[in-house]
Amino acid sequence: MKKVVIRKPGSYEKLEFEEFSSPPLKKDEVLIECRACGVNFADCCVRMGVYLPAKVYVGWPITPGFEVSGVVKEVGEEVSKFSVGQRVVAISLFGGYSSHVAVKERQVFPLPEKMSFNEGAAFPTVFLTAYYALFELAHPRAGNVILIHSAAGGVGSSLVQLGKLAHCRVVGVVGSSHKIDTVKTLGADVVIDKSKQDLWKEAEAFSPEGYDIILDANGAETLWQSYKHLSSGGKLVVYGFHSMLSKGRGRPNWFKVLWDYLRTPRFNPLNLTTDNRSVLGFNLAYLFDKGDVLREGAEQLLKWLEEEKITLPPIQTFPLEKVAEAHKALESGETVGKLVLIP
Ligand SMILES: NC(=O)c1ccc[n+]([C@@H]2O[C@H](COP(=O)([O-])OP(=O)(O)OC[C@H]3O[C@@H](n4cnc5c(N)ncnc54)[C@H](OP(=O)(O)O)[C@@H]3O)[C@@H](O)[C@H]2O)c1
Repeated sequence: MKKVVIRKPGSYEKLEFEEFSSPPLKKDEVLIECRACGVNFADCCVRMGVYLPAKVYVGWPITPGFEVSGVVKEVGEEVSKFSVGQRVVAISLFGGYSSHVAVKERQVFPLPEKMSFNEGAAFPTVFLTAYYALFELAHPRAGNVILIHSAAGGVGSSLVQLGKLAHCRVVGVVGSSHKIDTVKTLGADVVIDKSKQDLWKEAEAFSPEGYDIILDANGAETLWQSYKHLSSGGKLVVYGFHSMLSKGRGRPNWFKVLWDYLRTPRFNPLNLTTDNRSVLGFNLAYLFDKGDVLREGAEQLLKWLEEEKITLPPIQTFPLEKVAEAHKALESGETVGKLVLIP
């Protein structure tokens, strides 16, 4: 068995490999032989040492990874829904960058026949994040106008599809021109290329009365303007701060982090009330023990995937040994869709 281990925070060279043997399986655990592991922006933050849930739940050393697909290798004595040899997909609170991972039964789902292992590993985190943001927090109504930042990325491309599924008008924002077609194909009504167009002028032209929902993981770069562009009753869902990190640098520029921290808007409850707007935030990593929230979301999303109401975004694969290249690619800010590691 082989896994990626990060012993100390830092750049790509901190991604090391380690042979290991699996500890005895707990009663409620399923051991999965991984065929694919999803890569998320949060994994890069884990490597850099700026992802708080990693410190809260694991510390150092740590194996990143929130999602895997594969085949059941062994089941604990209380596991009733899965058997050896079954194709599955699972969400894991870290540990996914590995040839094998043990996960609690309630975090495991059968992989639908028509989904490949790559597709299985590409869907959980980004779609669950999008699902929670939209359906648990924002509650879109048919006809709502939604603006989605980083719309070609993993979470962004999932949000575009879920927004259309909810019968909303969707504006997708991208940071590079080569991403436009992907977002259009996913169903966005309008795509704004902020590398060439004036983002907020275009956003105002499309919806002069503002937006019912804006989904923003940029952080200080756009948060205040996102808030300003909500309509009356509008909701801003904040779920990341990626512009705090410099693209492709491999490690935080602490001056930029501090500057962005200082200029991150502090929303005043008195103003929220008089402006008639809401600001909502969450981190999926803190929801693993929160009843059935993630399980219900995953089951609904798998159903929609089987019914072809939603599809997987483009998937780029890397051998597990090339994990550093996958991180570099994601941190470049130029990728579309989802990156997956093959152990
Ligand atoms: N709260 C949660 O539970 C949760 C869960 C999953 C993900 N997230 C957050 O959601 C965001 C998207 O995650 P993802 O895994 O799907 O990644 P992604 O969207 O596939 O990639 C990140 C995208 O963000 C934009 N970006 C802006 N500044 C960047 C920077 N300094 N470095 C790299 N990219 C930058 C780029 O798109 P454009 O240039 O086109 O904007 C880039 O393609 C991240 O902020 C992540 O932390 C939050």
